[in-house]
Parts: sequence; structure tokens; C-alpha cells
Amino acid sequence: MSDQMATERAVMPVAHNPVLERRTVENANRNLLKYLRLGLSVLDVGCGSGAITRSIAEKVGPTGRVLGIDPNENLIQQAIRHADRVADLGFQQADVYTFDTDERFDLVTCARTLQWLADPMAALRTMKRMVKPGGYLSILDFNHEKISWHPEPPEAMSLFYAAFLNWRQDAGFDNAIADHLVDLMTSLGLTEIQIENQSEQSRKADPTFAIDSRLWAEVAELRGPQLVKAGYITEDQRLQAITDYDNWIQTAGESMTVYMLAVEARVG
Ligand SMILES: C[S@@+](CC[C@H](N)C(=O)[O-])C[C@H]1O[C@@H](n2cnc3c(N)ncnc32)[C@H](O)[C@@H]1O
Repeated sequence: MSDQMATERAVMPVAHNPVLERRTVENANRNLLKYLRLGLSVLDVGCGSGAITRSIAEKVGPTGRVLGIDPNENLIQQAIRHADRVADLGFQQADVYTFDTDERFDLVTCARTLQWLADPMAALRTMKRMVKPGGYLSILDFNHEKISWHPEPPEAMSLFYAAFLNWRQDAGFDNAIADHLVDLMTSLGLTEIQIENQSEQSRKADPTFAIDSRLWAEVAELRGPQLVKAGYITEDQRLQAITDYDNWIQTAGESMTVYMLAVEARVG
């Protein structure tokens, strides 16, 4: 594992990103709803293409202030293009490890991003510093080891998923980050830490089952080429995973549950 490997593997491939773009506070970060009110200032770390950030900006209104940061130039450009009509919503290309500003925020949120950082503690330290006294730090993330499918997905997808977790682990990413957040935040001196289970289950009867459960086919499409290039899986295995999994969704697939926790604390 090297810092360079972690940086390279964390990069989102340049492509239309349907996974990120369909997210809103309501469907993908609902733990924030209890904080969001008119006039709030919010920093969204690892904002991606800014879909959730835009949804936050709508809720804090023109008297609020929202800043999204992400190191990925392509995603930040997309975010800026879609943000032009929302008041006081800004995006900045920045890496949480090196980001600095004099601005302080009522709420600092970071969703599905620490899973891509080899040094989550350094990121948490920066984010804690950005919170105004009495404000909140809110982290939402996965434990990828606790995903469940019913029935088991096809073997080709299980193989891809295991390779994906190994590829991530070898870069220093914590596949079980959600369950380590309390310890990390406690080490930072945060107290009164609140934990909310935010696991997302999608069932066959749900109108969005085909879209939601397809997340892993999309990961195989978007991220898969990186795994092939790094030798974790062959191109044939990647394509087989997509085909067989799409077939599972249309036939045997009953449900998928991704395990997520929101871990939050008041700062100062
Ligand atoms: C899975 S996306 C999450 C996007 C959005 N927060 C959401 O929940 O839909 C992870 C994001 O983390 C960003 N990221 C990776 N390394 C980062 C770093 N060092 N600092 C800030 N963001 C980073 C990626 O560019 C990517 O946009």
C-alpha cells in the first residue's frame, strides 16, 4: 500500500455517474434532515457531482451557505454546471487532507467518502476543525463486509465483489469504516456521539429495486476496469459479473441491503 495507490484508486472514473446523480438528502442522506433549516451553513466533504449538496442548498435556502469540496475536477465541473441557479451554493476542487479555509460551518457532512480514504483520522481532524462551536459533524458511511443479498447473487458477482473489497483493502481503505467511526471520533475527543442505522434495503416489490440493486453492476461498469488493470479480475470475469447480476435482478433477486451508519457529534 502506498499513498499514491490510495489516491489513484479513490479517483472516480470519468463517466456519466448515474449512482451519484440520483441522490438527494431524502433518499441518500436523510440523517441530515434533522439539522437542515433555513440560514444554516454547511460544508459537504467529498461532494462528488453535487447532487446531495444541491438538495442541502434547497433546504437551507438563500439565507444559508453551502460549500461542496471534492478533489475530482470532472465531478466538480459537473457540480458547478448544475449549481448556477441555487443561491449561495459553491463548489471548490479540494482534497480534504489539504483543504483549508477561515470559514466555519454549522454542519460539516461527509457521505460515502471516508470509505475511500487511507487516513480517515486525518480527514476527520480537518472536518472537526471546520465546525463552528456548537455545530455538528455528520459522517455517513458503509461497512461493505455487511452487505446482504437475498438470495445470494450469482457467483460471478460474488467473485467481482470479493475482488473489489481486496482491491480496496490493498490500497489501505477500510471496508468496515462505518463500524470504526465511533472509535475514530472518540479518539478525536468528540463526546455524545450519536449512531443511526442508515442501511438501505431495496426489495423486489419496490419500484426502484432494479435501479437500486443495480448499484453493483454499475460499480463493475465504472470501477471494474480499474480492477482489471490492476490484475484483480479478468475483463471476461468483469463482463460476466455484469451480465449474470443483471439477469439475477430480473429473475431470482429478492432484496439487497447495504449496511450504512450515520455517526454524528456536536463539536465544542
Ligand atoms: C462515493 S462518492 C460520494 C459522493 C457523495 N458524497 C454521495 O454520497 O453521493 C466519494 C467521493 O469522495 C471523493 N474523494 C476521494 N478522495 C477524497 C479526498 N481526499 N478528499 C475529498 N473527497 C475525496 C471522490 O472524488 C468522490 O466524489
